[in-house]
This record gives sequence, structure tokens and C-alpha cells, in this order.
Amino acid sequence: MCKGEHHQWPLSTGSKLLSITRTIETVSRLRCIACGATPNSAGQDFRCTACGDLLEFFFPGWTLDPLLSDPTSLKSLWLNRRTSSDALDQSGVWRFRELLPHIPNLEEHAITLREGNTPLYRLPRCARAAGVENLQAKHQGMNPTASFKDTGMTFAASSAHQSGFRWVACASTGNTSASMAAYAARGNMHSLVLIPEGKISWGKLSQSLDYGALTCQLRTDFDGCVQILNDLVRQKPVYLLNSVNPYRIEGQKTAAIELMEQLAWQPPDHIIVPGGNLGNSSAIGKALLEMRELKLISRLPKLSIIQAHGANPFYRSVREFGGKKLEPMTADTLATAIRIGNPASWKKALRVLQATGGEVEEVTELEIAAAKAEIGADGIGCEPASAVTLAGLKKLRQSGFVKPAEAVVLILTGHLLKDPDFTIKFHRGDLFADAAVAGAPDETEAAKAKYLQRAPVVLDANLAAVIAALDAAERNS
Ligand code: F0G
Repeated sequence: MCKGEHHQWPLSTGSKLLSITRTIETVSRLRCIACGATPNSAGQDFRCTACGDLLEFFFPGWTLDPLLSDPTSLKSLWLNRRTSSDALDQSGVWRFRELLPHIPNLEEHAITLREGNTPLYRLPRCARAAGVENLQAKHQGMNPTASFKDTGMTFAASSAHQSGFRWVACASTGNTSASMAAYAARGNMHSLVLIPEGKISWGKLSQSLDYGALTCQLRTDFDGCVQILNDLVRQKPVYLLNSVNPYRIEGQKTAAIELMEQLAWQPPDHIIVPGGNLGNSSAIGKALLEMRELKLISRLPKLSIIQAHGANPFYRSVREFGGKKLEPMTADTLATAIRIGNPASWKKALRVLQATGGEVEEVTELEIAAAKAEIGADGIGCEPASAVTLAGLKKLRQSGFVKPAEAVVLILTGHLLKDPDFTIKFHRGDLFADAAVAGAPDETEAAKAKYLQRAPVVLDANLAAVIAALDAAERNS
């Protein structure tokens, strides 16, 4: 049984194609991104034992698989699964399992919360603000724990379960930990969360508590938490669930596959993602390259990565050093999800940036806050880290990298309710009141966002007062 769910495996959705997938297991191998070593298995830190760099999956078996050389059949297989009542078919990750590494005895080990299946929304007001005609957002905040992390977590947590671990662990700025805690709980595993004290939103912290994780708030930043976790997994039988774990990247690939399916396999001109630890951009880029290799799409969108000015080591690496090195920094931004100074997956992200011809940008705290309110005003909303995408798009328009008639998709990574503190402070006008954050505006600058602020109005409890407020709002609209 799939953890906590009724699940039969293999599946029958009525398609003849299923008999093909039944007999062919995707042959995947691990490979070091730097020295090219191909170990048979990964150590507990998921680093290459020869050179210490990151590992990734590649798929030598794809060339032997007739289904994978038949894009039309593959697409209809995935579409057919949408009508299935099976838990794995209903997942927007496992639905695309032909492009994922094989997990032995999946029927016993798969842990799913029906992640993925996230909506693609048009953003008409944001499009006008950014000066583009065709702007959409894929909202990964509509996942079960309200961030994009669930797509990677279902896959990596299942791998942990298959490997027989009792404990899983991560360092996090809040979303990975929320997601990991949920999936661990569903799979009857214990979870250990290391988060920087005082630097993650209450919404995210409350999730990991409720899902039953052992939650440790360390007196350091995210990068400090990562260091301790790396040392821990070398000493204790604990399964590492940060995005250096290549299973995470594989699961997160499916967001791009699902996006292409939603666009009838016609790629947009641009996809724009936030950059923190740089796992997500690596995953989306990997999926794009693999989909082109399998002829599921005929051309590559440009994948651009946006960082907050106060947490911009990748931006500086590309702009100042041509991607030849990355200088870690002490990161600071009110978009706490991407408050990361030493991103683990920067080399993977650089590779996909170059392969797709994307751009890297940085945005200020005010630009992030304004973009977040604009996404909200389109009736969608997202957390601050996700809003860097719209802020970055505006800059890419100004520089001419994005043309007005080009189709653009923003990847919104987290839900609006992840960080209500930020939202309330912004609308009340005191977001930057005591923020000594790099890139935060002074009072005059901050006033420029006033037109986006919708502070609550406190009134006496009488009808006349409400009508007066309504009339005033109408006059100003
Ligand atoms: N957006 C949100 C909402 C995030 O939570 C994160 C990362 C990112 C963007 C950046 O993605 O790291 O793959 O480049 N959050 C991690 C966490 C680090 O621990 O929750 P990335």
C-alpha cells in the first residue's frame, strides 16, 4: 500500500500504454556534476566521494525504452492518468513517473499527499504593470503544505522510506521543513528540523510543529544550520532531505513537465523563478532540457533566476565573476525564504541558466513588497520570496531582455498565508520601519508603494460610518 492511501500498483487507467510501463523500469544512474564519477549509490551527505561536489541523476536507460521515444504516447499516458482514482495517478508528481528514477517496491514506499496539479493563472494587472501582453503564473503555493517543496519531498521522502530510515532531517528557511515534516508524518518517520531562530515566518514554524517534527531553532542563519546538518548526517543514521539530495530535484522537475502540459506543450518564451539555495531553478532547468531531449517540447524557454539584493551571491557570481566562482555572503532580506548566502546548487543552476540562455537579476526590498501586493491585487497572492519573480520581470523588461509580446510564466513558490506578518506590515505601512536590511528603502522611497497599501479601516460600529468609508473608497478607485 502507498503510505496512508489506497493504492494498487501497477495501475490500470484503461490505457494500453500502461502495459509498456509495467515491463520497463527507467534506468537511472547517479553522476557527479563536477568530476563525472558515476557511483552506484550516494553517501549520507549526497556528495561525490571523489571530489565532494553534488550528484545528479541521469538516464542512460531512456534510449532503450520505446515509450520514451514516442512523445505522443507519453503525453496521452499522462493525460489519461488524470481520470484515475489511484493515489499516485492523482499526484502531479507521480503521474510523470516515467521521467523519474525508479524506486524499488514503490507500492510499499510511496508517500503522497496528491501534490502538484497546481494552477496556471493569467495575471492581467501584473502584465500591465510589467509591460508584457502574455503573463501567467504557475502557483506552486497551491501544493498540500502550500509551497513548491512538496513536489520534491514526496519523491525524496519515499526514497528515505524505501531505504529504511527512521529519521529524516533538513535545514530550512521554513518551507522545506514544513513539507518534510508533513511527508515524514505520513510515512511514519521521525523528522528533525534545523531552522534559524527568529528568521522564519510563524506560519511555516507552526506547520512543522503541528506535523510533529523535532524542531530546533538554532542561533545562527540558514547557512549555519546547513553546516551542522551536514556534520550530523555523517555521524547519525539520519536521511538528509535538503535539495542537495538529488531525489528532491527529480520530484521538483515535474512542475515544469506539468507546466508544459498545461500549455499544450508549447513552451513560453520565458520562465522566471526565485533563487535561494538554487535547487528549484536547477530542477526546472533539468526538466526543460530532458523534455527537449525526449522531443516532448521543440524549443527551450529562457529560464531566468531572480535574487533579493541582500541575498544575491548567485547574481554576483554571474555578473562579477562570469559564473567562475561564488563568494558566500551573510544574507539578509525580509523575504526570509530566500535569505541564503551560500547556495548549495549554484553550479547546477549556472548550467541551466547557460543552457537555456536565461538571465540573472536582483531586486530591492521595496520592489519585492510592491510586486507582492500587485500579485495579490490580481486575486492570487504569494509569499514575499515568490514575488521576486514579478519584480525581476519588470527589470528584465526594462533591460530589453524580455520583449512586450513574449510569453512569460512566473513560478510562484509559496502561498500568501505563509507569511501574513509581512503582508500586514506592508499594508499598514510599517514593513520597513525598523528593517536594517540591505536594499530596504528609506521613508521617502517607501512612500512610493503607498498606492498599493490597503490598511484596515477602524470605524465606529454604525452604518453611516461604513457607508462613508465605501463612498470614499469609490471616489478614490
Ligand atoms: N521560494 C520559496 C517560497 C522558498 O521557500 C524557497 C526556498 C525559494 C523560493 C528558493 O528556492 O532554494 O530552490 O532556490 N526555501 C528553502 C527552504 C531554502 O528551506 O524552505 P531554492
